[in-house]
Amino acid sequence: MARRALLCFLLLQPLLAAAEPRAQANRTFTIDYEGDQFLKDGKPFRYISGSIHYSRIPRFYWKDRLFKMKMAGLNAIETYVPWNFHEPFPGQYQFSGEQDLEYFLQLVHEVGLLVILRPGPYICAEWDMGGLPVWLLEKKSIFLRSSDPDYLKAVDKWLEVLLPKMKPYLYQNGGPIITVQVENEYGSYFACDYNYLRFLLKVFRQHLGEEVVLFTTDGAGENYLKCGTLQDLYATVDFGTSSNITQAFMIQRKVEPKGPLVNSEFYTGWLDHWGESHQTVSTKNIVASLTDMLSRGANVNLSLFHFRYMFIGGTNFGFWNGANMPYLPQPTSYDYDAPLSEAGDLTEKYYAVREAIGKFEKLPEGPIPPSTPKFAYGKVAMKQVNTVQDSLDVLCPAGPFNSTYPLTFVQMKQYFGFVLYRTILPKNCSEPVLLSSPLGGVHDRAYVSVNGVSQGILERNRVLSINITGKAGDTLDVLVENLGRINFGEDINDFKGLISNLTLGSDVLKDWLMFPLDLQNEVDPDLEKKVTSRSNPSNSTLPSFYVGQFSIPSGIPDFPQDTFIQFPDWTKGQVWINGFNLGRYWPGRGPQVTLYVPRHILVTSALNNITVLELERSPCESQQRCFVEMVDKPILNGPLFSSKKNP
Ligand SMILES: *[C@@H]1O[C@H](CO)[C@@H](O)[C@H](O)[C@H]1NC(C)=O
Ligand SMILES: *[C@@H]1O[C@H](CO)[C@@H](O)[C@H](O)[C@H]1NC(C)=O
Ligand SMILES: *[C@@H]1O[C@H](CO)[C@@H](O)[C@H](O)[C@H]1NC(C)=O
Ligand SMILES: *[C@@H]1O[C@H](CO)[C@@H](O)[C@H](O)[C@H]1NC(C)=O
Ligand SMILES: *[C@@H]1O[C@H](CO)[C@@H](O)[C@H](O)[C@H]1NC(C)=O
Ligand SMILES: *[C@@H]1O[C@H](CO)[C@@H](O)[C@H](O)[C@H]1NC(C)=O
Ligand SMILES: *[C@@H]1O[C@H](CO)[C@@H](O)[C@H](O)[C@H]1NC(C)=O
Ligand SMILES: *[C@@H]1O[C@H](CO)[C@@H](O)[C@H](O)[C@H]1NC(C)=O
Ligand SMILES: *[C@@H]1O[C@H](CO)[C@@H](O)[C@H](O)[C@H]1NC(C)=O
Repeated sequence: MARRALLCFLLLQPLLAAAEPRAQANRTFTIDYEGDQFLKDGKPFRYISGSIHYSRIPRFYWKDRLFKMKMAGLNAIETYVPWNFHEPFPGQYQFSGEQDLEYFLQLVHEVGLLVILRPGPYICAEWDMGGLPVWLLEKKSIFLRSSDPDYLKAVDKWLEVLLPKMKPYLYQNGGPIITVQVENEYGSYFACDYNYLRFLLKVFRQHLGEEVVLFTTDGAGENYLKCGTLQDLYATVDFGTSSNITQAFMIQRKVEPKGPLVNSEFYTGWLDHWGESHQTVSTKNIVASLTDMLSRGANVNLSLFHFRYMFIGGTNFGFWNGANMPYLPQPTSYDYDAPLSEAGDLTEKYYAVREAIGKFEKLPEGPIPPSTPKFAYGKVAMKQVNTVQDSLDVLCPAGPFNSTYPLTFVQMKQYFGFVLYRTILPKNCSEPVLLSSPLGGVHDRAYVSVNGVSQGILERNRVLSINITGKAGDTLDVLVENLGRINFGEDINDFKGLISNLTLGSDVLKDWLMFPLDLQNEVDPDLEKKVTSRSNPSNSTLPSFYVGQFSIPSGIPDFPQDTFIQFPDWTKGQVWINGFNLGRYWPGRGPQVTLYVPRHILVTSALNNITVLELERSPCESQQRCFVEMVDKPILNGPLFSSKKNP
């Protein structure tokens, strides 16, 4: 019934008309400085918006999530555009399927919401490299987020593709986009390069026109606003429940003495890191701040309010998570303790927020779409098929790179996942000898073996040396994993791989072969075939692939349903279902225990294939324990384990 209501609602909305300026003469969205407010079609307008990142929600569920946001009383959504999601290689653009931003904007429009668009080019967002494409690092010395000509050239070329696509979706052209953010918290970045902001302002105006409201967002501190704002870009601030709202807006007033007061990011929750406890923000505090701001709005025409971070967080599928410094990668779930859960479920916070908004705004009528049903498909037996080493010919069909000193990922045009670095031990190590990365050049985690015998794990900022043993002429394999690029601060030029030399005792290791692994696709229908093609089952403790299958009963309406996968007694790795890269699991560190499995990747017509790359230790020495499990409840706050807990 709820689903039917949703459909009817959508059908009633007019489809987005092709942009015909003539027909849209009445649609305006402007800043009224004197009235300290926004004007929509000439009338005072306040938006209450929530963030949703389309890149973190399966397209299959976009409509469902947007409709739930609408039913909470929001009148706008806010989204980032991750550049690296759309231009994975220079000049290769992706705007279809999961990357179909225009379709997303159409859906928003049909649901009856407005859009605050944040196209970056830098977005932070706990997203790999803050949304900047890795290939920018092919120029090793590039100065990102500055007026470095090579950076500007790439930005210019990208915006020339993106912004004209966005133009028809601007409010005044008949679409849902009311305002557009330029850069993101630029005042928190060390460069403080006004020429860069001026360049962006010029390019945004050139492609979007003079009418659209362009704005910046910075932390509510004078220092941030100093470098983050520019004349002709409307300055807004962001802050969470712990801030003094009056003081935060006094900061905005220092830069914008007139015009609407805007909190562009109000933190409804907080982000997680592997190895740190799951973060939450209390519903009570959210409701109190929200009520405070909305009631000020009623009195002083405080214009807007975002639940930017986040109304729904979603998932870092595949390899898309970012990391913070000192190096701490973010987990696969981006649940964010937001009003809608990672899986789009209605939470207590959702209802509390809806009720608070309902005190100030008329809530839409009709039923709220229910949480989607979840199903516990149960245990799935797994079996080890191959080690990574055994699979090199299928996973690296072009063969290895060969170089005296190690190359970085970007030098090999390998952007995500794994590269196996191989060399020969130059000397006997019958007694343990230290294998070290004296300059901390293992980015980010390396699984070390000698002639197929596991030796230990090196890890960025944590484990810079291990002892190894072996004989001269033995093969030393160092499988290096990229755990996600830094997305915030001055270290965003985050090179991956062995970014400096490894030493054995006092000798620099030389003459490397490097095998980039072809595991980078978001979906690889042939993955199962690839990893099983060399089937050579062993009880190896080296990084290995495991496969398993499960069936979903057919003939039951509404099947398949969403589920969550967990890895009892497994340690750390990557998981794919039917070739879809779900992300990392790491119960060996915590706190995330289950990974969200959206139903659209499951089938009832055939067996579903689970492929696991376990990098450390599986429970499969015992056949009874060699399984993964599909459960109907997420666990994001599991136990934490020390970083040094290596096998
Ligand atoms: C749009 O503008 C035209 C011309 O100014 C006016 O006649 C018409 O009533 C306006 N329509 C609305 C819906 O405001
Ligand atoms: C917030 O700041 C204002 C202005 O500095 C001050 O008057 C007020 O007492 C503060 N409120 C709280 C709750 O600290
Ligand atoms: C708020 O907006 C209303 C409607 O435009 C206006 O009448 C009122 O004076 C405004 N109040 C303040 C404090 O600006
Ligand atoms: C790597 O390159 C060097 C120098 O060109 C060559 O001598 C060596 O045989 C190559 N190694 C492999 C395994 O191809
Ligand atoms: C390594 O040890 C073996 C005997 O265990 C010896 O034959 C060989 O010469 C040694 N190699 C080097 C490089 O020291
Ligand atoms: C390596 O082995 C030596 C001698 O056995 C020992 O003193 C040292 O602590 C070990 N170092 C590491 C990093 O394990
Ligand atoms: C490795 O060491 C060599 C010799 O000292 C040096 O030329 C090279 O730049 C180093 N490579 C890296 C990646 O640090
Ligand atoms: C793996 O271990 C099992 C149980 O210990 C044993 O039966 C089997 O022969 C082993 N297989 C290999 C390939 O070593
Ligand atoms: C899973 O793999 C089997 C072959 O082992 C294949 O028949 C089946 O179609 C695959 N399932 C999906 C959903 O691709």
